[in-house]
This record gives sequence, structure tokens and C-alpha cells, in this order.
Amino acid sequence: MSEMSPTVQIRAPAKINLSLEITGRRPDGYHELVSIMQTVSLADILTLSLAEDVTVTVRGATLGADNLVTLAAELLRRRHNIGAGCAIILDKRIPIAAGLGGGSSDAAATLLSLCRLWNLELEPAELCDLAAQLGSDVPFFLQGGTSLIEGRGEVVTALPTPRPVWYLLVNPGFPVSTPAVYASLQHSDWTDGMMTRTLAERMKPGSHAPFGRNALESALFRVSPEARACLDAVAEVAAGRALVSGSGPTIFAEFEEAEPAATSCAALRRHGYWSEVTQAIAPREAITACV
Ligand code: C5P
Repeated sequence: MSEMSPTVQIRAPAKINLSLEITGRRPDGYHELVSIMQTVSLADILTLSLAEDVTVTVRGATLGADNLVTLAAELLRRRHNIGAGCAIILDKRIPIAAGLGGGSSDAAATLLSLCRLWNLELEPAELCDLAAQLGSDVPFFLQGGTSLIEGRGEVVTALPTPRPVWYLLVNPGFPVSTPAVYASLQHSDWTDGMMTRTLAERMKPGSHAPFGRNALESALFRVSPEARACLDAVAEVAAGRALVSGSGPTIFAEFEEAEPAATSCAALRRHGYWSEVTQAIAPREAITACV
């Protein structure tokens, strides 16, 4: 451990769902999905240092003791009988319960960083298994980039990196419960997944980023009719290319150029929405460490 850096800093990026189809309900109560996920430049920042106990300090948000960073640290510590602890500082920048995968990304970043801090070399399969125990989206965030997601979310296949585009994120400022959105799904929201699979199959390095549909959209509007006003506001400034991300309520819109994205961002902020201009990002390469 002595030659290891005692502090690790890592970005935990948000994701958007460029397409999301629900193909059915599973015996375990979860849903079978086919989705294309993309990490974007908006990110939480985690700083982890060796300590005696596991502590998590959150800045920029209020999280309960059952937050995914604490759960990830305790799971890894228990599984590998680690004597050491860690002090984790989480700088929260991704809106919470927003369909952007912030909590899941934090969990993946925690696992990756603690492997380094605690000097653990886990097989990718074990890391994936631990990630899936923490949440359906967590395995995707171990690598990020552009991926086809299947099963409950744990079947992750890397896709070619598309031509970079800008994504405007817009959030109406209230959280929406993911279980509530899934619970209000109707059979008519299910499809066979072919649209998303076809979009994925057609992707080549540098080809245009896919833009599909989101099967959770109707369910979101059933749970939260207010979320529709946000989609309408974004569609107005983004000329129709707007979609709900995950279970919402964040809406994203695709832009070829940065400038119109920034202009739309400013307009939506004037309407009282939280909004950020982001870029699609490539898969994770290495953890950035600082002493
Ligand atoms: O796996 P995770 O805890 O992130 O999922 C949150 C909730 O989303 C689950 O409790 C479930 O209601 C719903 N879900 C689902 N099917 C999936 C993923 C999530 O029904 N494939």
C-alpha cells in the first residue's frame, strides 16, 4: 500500500438514454429492457482517502445513510474482508432522482476507486457482479461511453463511439421516483426492442449518434403530469429532437453545434429550469489520482 497514492479522485458522469424500450416484466419483478446509454460530461466528483472507518461527506445535496456510495464501500469491504476504511467526499452536481443515473454512477466510481485505494485486483466479472447487486444501471458506469444495455440493465455491450454532439439537459427541479414510474407502465408501453437494436446495429465509429424513443415517457407523465410541460418547453427550443432520459424527469435535446445549445440553455434557465450543456464522452480510461 505504501507506494500507492493515498487519495483517489474520480469523476462519476451522468448518462442519458438515447433509446429505451421495455420488452416485458421479469419473474423477479424487474423489467426486461433494451437501451442505448451514453455518458455525458456533467459529473459528480468523488475524493477518497484511506481512513479507519467508512465515512461519506456529501456536498451539494442531502443523502440518507442508504446512499449508493456508502452501500458500495460497505459491500466491497465486507466481500473482501478489508480492515481499512475510507473517507469519501462526494461533490454532487448531477440532479438527484432525475433519470441521469447519478447515484448509480457514484456507486461504480466508488467500486473502481476503492479497488485502487485498498489495493484489490478484481476480475471484471466480479466487479460487474458487485455493481449489479447495487443497482441495474451500475454495471454500465464501470466503463461508460456508448453501450447497448439489455436484461435488467446488467448486460452491457460497448458500441462504436459516435460523432460527438452536444446534449442539452433540462430538469424541472423536482425528483421523480423510478419505482413509481416503472409501476405505472402499461402493456401498451412494451415493444419488441427492435427499434433500439437496429439503431445499435447501424452504428459505426463516427456515425451520427442514435436518437430513438423512451418507453418510460408515458409512464412518467402518468406519475408526474408536470414533467410534460418541461418536455414541451424543450421541444419548442430544440425543434422536436427532445426525449426523456431514463425514468425522468430530465429531458435532453441533441444539438450539432454548441452555440444554439447554449442559447437554448439560457432561455430555459430564464423559464426557471435547471439546464446544462453537455457533451457525449468516451468510455472510462483510467482513474485520475491526486496525492
Ligand atoms: O436496480 P435499481 O434499484 O436501480 O432499480 C430501481 C427500480 O427501478 C426498481 O426497484 C424497479 O422498480 C425499477 N426497475 C425495473 N426494471 C429494471 C430496472 C429498474 O423495474 N430493469
